[in-house]
Amino acid sequence: MGGESYPLEVSSDGARDPLGCELLDAGAGRRLERFGERVVDRPAPGATAAPRAPSAWRAADLRFDPDRGWSGRADPGAPWSVVVEGLTLELRATSSGGVGLYPEHAANLAWLDAEIRARLPGATGTPPAVLNLFAHTGLATLAAARAGAAVAHVDAARASVAWARRNAALNGLEARPIRWLVDDAQALVDREARRGRRYQGIVLDPPSSGRARTSRWTLADDLPRLLAGCARIVADDAFVLLTAHSTGLDGETLAALLDEALPGLAGRREVRRLELAAPSGATLPLGWAVRASAGRPVPPARSSAGTGHHRG
Ligand SMILES: C[S@@+](CC[C@H](N)C(=O)[O-])C[C@H]1O[C@@H](n2cnc3c(N)ncnc32)[C@H](O)[C@@H]1O
Repeated sequence: MGGESYPLEVSSDGARDPLGCELLDAGAGRRLERFGERVVDRPAPGATAAPRAPSAWRAADLRFDPDRGWSGRADPGAPWSVVVEGLTLELRATSSGGVGLYPEHAANLAWLDAEIRARLPGATGTPPAVLNLFAHTGLATLAAARAGAAVAHVDAARASVAWARRNAALNGLEARPIRWLVDDAQALVDREARRGRRYQGIVLDPPSSGRARTSRWTLADDLPRLLAGCARIVADDAFVLLTAHSTGLDGETLAALLDEALPGLAGRREVRRLELAAPSGATLPLGWAVRASAGRPVPPARSSAGTGHHRG
């Protein structure tokens, strides 16, 4: 397998932006983050060290505990908003402890934007088609639509698709060519393959487990079949962005699965660690991204010394 170094991806960019997001601290199994005007304290299995800034946690407006739900001085039923990479998103405290945003995913948006813009046709051509699977509240959909893609946005949860549509409207993107699909990712991919549809870009951000109408999704068991389906619907010049926020599958395993399904992209991908860093010095590992692109030059063969891990 064509290995690469793992540039450390630090995507906490909101420190000076009152509407932005930043990790404030992490430790003792929890994460403390500012999302715009609200500071949120939530569980984080990857936060294995001790907190670096214990006094900062008193600023929390909302706290989530799996057995008690949300508590704190802010109204957990009231939505609020943040701006991520120039995109406004509605946030809500959900019953599962989410807020409608995976901030580490923002680190992939510049790459996504560049891949789409590189495939834009002339004034009269067809915009590149991008499929966003497990699309949640639509961060990648909005970034792709803003870059000029025609997007198929797929999520099994009707409420998530409605939320993503509100986010599109918040950004004036509701008239862009976006198909909003409440569907199981595998069922949709199989249907698109039968129809002979082709996509210039596929974004997949699967959960470690999830439920669609009639089936249950498990990352380790179901990802190989889904990637095999994706191989049937990618165009020759395609890019694929595969991310996983769970600690279950590491970056090299994700990359190996992608290489197996899409051997044509095998030498044309990079593996990135998704991680947030706090001003306190705390870091929070949040999974992996594999970015593959037919437009990416094949990297030169590595020396036997290797490159090791480094900051990107
Ligand atoms: C990890 S989140 C995606 C995060 C998203 N990419 C973002 O940055 O906001 C997983 C999403 O997958 C959806 N989901 C779970 N199982 C699914 C399935 N079988 N088919 C389609 N969507 C599914 C969930 O409803 C949830 O919105």
